[in-house]
Amino acid sequence: MRRLRIIGIGVGDPGFVTADAAQAMRELDVVFVLDKSGPAHELTLARQAVLEHFVPEPPRVVVIPDPPRDRQDPDYEGAVHRWREARVDVLVEALENELPSGGQAGILVWGDPSLYDGAIRVARDLVARDPQIEFDVIAGISSIHALCARHRIPLNRVSGAVEITTGRRLKEAWPEGVDDVFIMLDSHLVCREYAGEEIDIYWGAYLGTQDEILVAGRLGEKIDEIQRLRDEARERKGWVMDSYLLRRNPADAT
Ligand SMILES: C[S@@+](CC[C@H](N)C(=O)[O-])C[C@H]1O[C@@H](n2cnc3c(N)ncnc32)[C@H](O)[C@@H]1O
Repeated sequence: MRRLRIIGIGVGDPGFVTADAAQAMRELDVVFVLDKSGPAHELTLARQAVLEHFVPEPPRVVVIPDPPRDRQDPDYEGAVHRWREARVDVLVEALENELPSGGQAGILVWGDPSLYDGAIRVARDLVARDPQIEFDVIAGISSIHALCARHRIPLNRVSGAVEITTGRRLKEAWPEGVDDVFIMLDSHLVCREYAGEEIDIYWGAYLGTQDEILVAGRLGEKIDEIQRLRDEARERKGWVMDSYLLRRNPADAT
């Protein structure tokens, strides 16, 4: 039997790694790293640093170039599907090569594997293709939890709902029926469109790393500062990863 372990490692700070994740890392025979070339390569190195922090003699790490995803394809869903299929192909091959007589392979997932990450879907597709493979998932501290902890705020208001969504969707419209919205994957700070409204923003970039930046306050008063800090950081590092909570009508019950 071959076992694939999808291990959430938190967002960079070794303190975010759970005891379960550390234990799972120690049990691995091989680690697969789906490496995105370019700036995200720094995240690959960060994953390896977390592994070495917990496993002094780490298992072998096999870097698998992540199949490219066609981001210009107007058929967004189709492009994502094809990308997932290509990822399954490379993983099937890697499992056969690296674990010819069984054992455990791990994929270290940034944050929590259930949140805007393709690894669980790929693992499900993999198992559907080959019943000799099983997989499990180890939870991790997500950027949502890291952001709320760093700002010392609860995610939701009392009995309130929160929508977790993307910059792309916020650009289309403010989600219906909620005042609290958590935005991920926004490369353009689309929240600027709401700067005239009674909204507080809790923003964080590079959470859990030594480059961490935090800003909180009224959106209209903070958006230029956030934009400037974000632009400077991107210029300096070549990439930026940030998230934010928007709280509309913040004077209402918290
Ligand atoms: C592909 S998603 C992965 C989310 C991840 N699985 C998690 O649990 O946070 C990438 C998005 O997560 C957010 N993110 C991940 N790590 C972050 C960090 N260290 N600081 C701020 N935002 C982060 C950003 O919004 C980024 O665009």
